[in-house]
Amino acid sequence: MSKQPIGIFDSGVGGTSIWKEIHTLLPYENTIYLADSINAPYGLKGKQKIIELSIKNTEYLINSGCKLIVVACNTATTNAISVLRASYNIPFIGIEPAIKPAALHTKTHSVGILATQGTLSSELFSKTSGLFASHIQVIEQVGEGIVELIEAGKVNSDEMKQLLSAYLKPMIEAKIDYLVLGCTHYPYLMPLLLELLPKHVKIIDSGEAVARQTKAILEKHELLNTQTLKPENKFYTNGNPEVLRALLNNQYTLENLKF
Ligand code: SIN
Repeated sequence: MSKQPIGIFDSGVGGTSIWKEIHTLLPYENTIYLADSINAPYGLKGKQKIIELSIKNTEYLINSGCKLIVVACNTATTNAISVLRASYNIPFIGIEPAIKPAALHTKTHSVGILATQGTLSSELFSKTSGLFASHIQVIEQVGEGIVELIEAGKVNSDEMKQLLSAYLKPMIEAKIDYLVLGCTHYPYLMPLLLELLPKHVKIIDSGEAVARQTKAILEKHELLNTQTLKPENKFYTNGNPEVLRALLNNQYTLENLKF
């Protein structure tokens, strides 16, 4: 049993989509969320820079007493998680695009994936895609500009709608029946995606699976907090706190600090 917090970091506010799933499944766990918004997007940075930023976030969370860290950023996971696991003696949970379930269940043999350049060009992604999706057509699309708009608080803007329409067009033409969201910012696009995609296209992300995996790893290491007291959920951002606050529906207090 451990009351120590679960640490969660992302290149910005998007990882709160993962935090929400974890909080739903493990409502009594204390958590610390770190939004490195000042450095968003990670997806356009080189591997070395992404590793450097992931180490900085990890050290902040470890120094704050975290017992496990969720790398709530696909780009940081695909580029840095092996370095983190080799360097620190606590469990790390990463996020990988849910390409496997999409490839298993597609009926049109055509699936779309929307992710950052950093994720799509990573070794981990090409390995997963090669392993599970080599028999189907995978339409890859870099979501250029999406993270920037979300970080600017423009999730449901006309600008976003135009960008998404252009990105989804080739996928719709290729008759996809699954769209994989390969970035933790993208679940916030759900209302627009539902409006723009044909009704039969299923949209999948990794949030629930990550929460289940977090619980399983805490159990395995006997780190679950078995108390049923109101938890402490701390949110830190080095960017605009209003954007983070809006995504948390103004329900939690957060701090603006340098890290
Ligand atoms: C980014 O920072 O580019 C997006 C984060 C992610 O890949 O989940």
